[in-house]
Amino acid sequence: MSREMGRALAGQVALVTGAGRGIGRAVALAFAAEGAAVVLAARSRQHLAGVAAHIRARGGRALAIPTDVTQDAAVEALVEEAVAELGRLDVLVTAAGTASFGPVAGAKPADWDAMLALNLRAVLVCCRAVLPVMLRQRRGTILNVGSVAAERPIAGAAAYAATKAGVAAWSRVLAEELRGEGVRVGLLVAGAVDTPLWDAIPGAPDRARMLRPEDVARAAVLMAALPPGASLEALTLLPAGGIL
Ligand SMILES: NC(=O)c1ccc[n+]([C@@H]2O[C@H](COP(=O)([O-])OP(=O)(O)OC[C@H]3O[C@@H](n4cnc5c(N)ncnc54)[C@H](OP(=O)(O)O)[C@@H]3O)[C@@H](O)[C@H]2O)c1
Repeated sequence: MSREMGRALAGQVALVTGAGRGIGRAVALAFAAEGAAVVLAARSRQHLAGVAAHIRARGGRALAIPTDVTQDAAVEALVEEAVAELGRLDVLVTAAGTASFGPVAGAKPADWDAMLALNLRAVLVCCRAVLPVMLRQRRGTILNVGSVAAERPIAGAAAYAATKAGVAAWSRVLAEELRGEGVRVGLLVAGAVDTPLWDAIPGAPDRARMLRPEDVARAAVLMAALPPGASLEALTLLPAGGIL
């Protein structure tokens, strides 16, 4: 029996944005462990090389493509290269994202631009970019990463919550558009996860009480590995007994 057989994502190709660290990295490692060939996208070439080496050392298949997903043409080129190299594209996980917090009263609109561009617009652009290939295959899974911040008000997180609420609404509508086309869309809503995202946030909550990136990755595997006839369109993952 080949190594590929019996693994949940054997034979599939997954593109993970934000794969250099945090949630995206954990998803990429977990998908590779389940037999997927993984395309890794983020801006840091060095981070991607480290993740790719980790996957290859364990017998997995990884392709690192340094990409700034806020650049539309770069996203098009990313999908084109992924399909040219690996022949198909079965799963997209949009885990590239950022968080900046602060009260609205003290904010300048320009402070929000980079986060809106990455957390919202780039997610839309990435989803759109994979559609031609997934529709052609009549098979595909898109997983967008949401946040409880969109559902439970946290003072200081208004702009961040707005980006995540936008992604939630987008995911629901896109799922409806693609129903019957073989392409499913899921939203993975996570509570606080202990990733480098918190490094730059003053007064971050107790990281020991957060989810681990590997927890989110397990949920992503569950969503991606369901048989094609079933779609887990929304999943909320919270630290049990911890903080949101
Ligand atoms: N951590 C949490 O508590 C938590 C909870 C719920 C939801 N989320 C969401 O989960 C997602 C991932 O968060 P995380 O905690 O894993 O963050 P992270 O540890 O900071 O990782 C973010 C990843 O995104 C990449 N990235 C940033 N800007 C990019 C760009 N312009 N183009 C391509 N890649 C880019 C980063 O690499 P480069 O900088 O090298 O590009 C990095 O690989 C975000 O959408 C976040 O909002 C996080």
